[in-house]
Amino acid sequence: MTASTTPTTPTAPTARMYQRRHARSPQALAKPYTFLDTGVRVDVEPLLAELADVELPYLESLWKWHRGTRFTILRAGPQGALPGDELITGHGVDAPILERLPRLRALLDGALGFTAPLAWLGLSPPNSAIRMHVDNTAHWDEHHRLHLPLITSPGARLSVMGRFQHFPAGTLFAFNNSRPHGAINEGPARLHLVFDVPAGPEIDGLLAASTPLRGELDAPALARLSEDPLSDLTPEERADPVRMIRYLNQ
Ligand SMILES: [Fe+2]
Repeated sequence: MTASTTPTTPTAPTARMYQRRHARSPQALAKPYTFLDTGVRVDVEPLLAELADVELPYLESLWKWHRGTRFTILRAGPQGALPGDELITGHGVDAPILERLPRLRALLDGALGFTAPLAWLGLSPPNSAIRMHVDNTAHWDEHHRLHLPLITSPGARLSVMGRFQHFPAGTLFAFNNSRPHGAINEGPARLHLVFDVPAGPEIDGLLAASTPLRGELDAPALARLSEDPLSDLTPEERADPVRMIRYLNQ
């Protein structure tokens, strides 16, 4: 008698998030999309030339999911208790560095078809990952998230709802940051200009005319983004009580 085996279908790993439950804002935007290509294209070379002339005041990310990545605030809220709290204290306050970046400031001030009350530069080093999470403040519920890649490679991809999408440099796109999302960079350093934009006629029109993209499945990449973001803390991080309290409350 021959032993029989039941064929099994490989199942994609389920995304996991290590995050406190978030009560959504009553004014949360619907965001009926995963990835949207706005069709807007920007020549990034003049922007990169402008950035090459300044030393950007990078901060280490404050969010545990983003450990290992850095950001430079361009426009956000007033100064808070800790460096980088500007991202959660309000909007409309220009960082001093923006004075020296007139081409980037023009993009924040309407050159792309909308004005951005919050914007920053996000730097993902080589071989870095932003673990799965939902952007979990009322502000983020109530704003669309748009990115303009400035320096990137096909190895730099965003993930939303388990699907992965790369966007070339100069491609203005939106993605749903109110759904589980993350990012993986298997290429060289990746630099994105990031905008938070409230609903309004201009942005609503731009997004309505955008092309939805589904992204691709990638089970190993999703498994990596589903790891506990605190599983590889360094001794220095563990010894920093302010940092640890912050991480453990996220
Ligand atoms: Fe996020």
